[in-house]
Amino acid sequence: MRMLKQGIYAVGAQDWDRKVFDELIPLNEGTSYNAYLIKGSDKTALIDTVDPQKTEILINNLLKCGIDGIDYVVSNHCEQDHSGSIGDILLLYPQAKVVTNAKNKEFLINHLHIEEDKFIVITEDDSISLGDKTLKFAFIPWVHWPETMATYLVEDKILFPCDMFGSHLAGSELFAVCDANQYNQAKGYYAEIMMPFRAAIRKNLEKLSKFDFDMIAPSHGPVYKEPEFIINAYNDWSGEAVKNHVLIAYVSMHGSTKKMVEYLTDELIDRGIPVNPFNLINGNIGHLAIDLVDSATVILAGPQVLAGAHPALANAAFLANALRPKTKFATVIGSYGWGGKMVENIAAMLGNLKIELYEPVMIKGLPRDEDYQLLEKLADSIVEKHKSIGIY
Ligand code: FEO
Repeated sequence: MRMLKQGIYAVGAQDWDRKVFDELIPLNEGTSYNAYLIKGSDKTALIDTVDPQKTEILINNLLKCGIDGIDYVVSNHCEQDHSGSIGDILLLYPQAKVVTNAKNKEFLINHLHIEEDKFIVITEDDSISLGDKTLKFAFIPWVHWPETMATYLVEDKILFPCDMFGSHLAGSELFAVCDANQYNQAKGYYAEIMMPFRAAIRKNLEKLSKFDFDMIAPSHGPVYKEPEFIINAYNDWSGEAVKNHVLIAYVSMHGSTKKMVEYLTDELIDRGIPVNPFNLINGNIGHLAIDLVDSATVILAGPQVLAGAHPALANAAFLANALRPKTKFATVIGSYGWGGKMVENIAAMLGNLKIELYEPVMIKGLPRDEDYQLLEKLADSIVEKHKSIGIY
């Protein structure tokens, strides 16, 4: 239990051992489920709760705060890593009411079976007084569920935006060290959770700017005492600008595709274009997601197998399509033995993306000189396209 400002405590839980989130995303440094207790002169509010597996830690932290009771449990978001302990909190503090919007009320009733009479439903115009402290609200739908909202503590200038601005980091430090590691952790979190909702993110960044906050306390990872660090990053990631960078996501069975990837990588480096050749078989898929955030070009490379795309490449294409990056250009390269529809397979899987396609480079067997020349031509095309949007 740690203190953000006078009377405001971090009472959530670190999950040091968690290795995978959503049964999809590998976690390098665990995660945290942040909950915050606000002791006003008249009333006490709890902002969000924790994953149900960590309820005991939340309750122990609350007991350490020496409170008589909880009046309000503010639920910013229904997903169970933040709402999963609400039922236990209501059992422990039966006078508490769950404060949230109408949509989240419906979600919480469906997902947690919380009783109807436990709710106080608020609108964006409402405020709740805790005595010397006041809570205000902003509905920020689709970061990343439709019911999501943020709570603002007026007198202390703290924004509690739940998942928005989060990072999967377990740590003993309450406050963020705004360095490269924190940036990358937050970028990975953005890529996996927020990126598909880029337009909503931009709209909600604008909406939140009405609050005069000097601290952001998200529901995962450390608290920002320098909010501009993460606000600037979100403006950058969710904006339209892409970077002079190429991501090559590849799989190779017998080495032919790998030779093509290595050759293209060198050709791009020679032309001054940063490139990340990402091995889909042994790479951390979280790093792939990070590169999808702002790479101008994505190349999907693999062998043709069973008359179509290798399943690992199809999985990468499916993920890229679901995450909806702002990538501008893409293509497919690879090697085949006798024929198939790999290019058509992959192209059909990228329907969500607004991309211009380079000419694919599909070669028969091990690459020959003329195949390498096609890769040189592709590298030249990438330079031209990056020039055309002013990033080269
Ligand atoms: Fe951290 Fe959408 O839950």
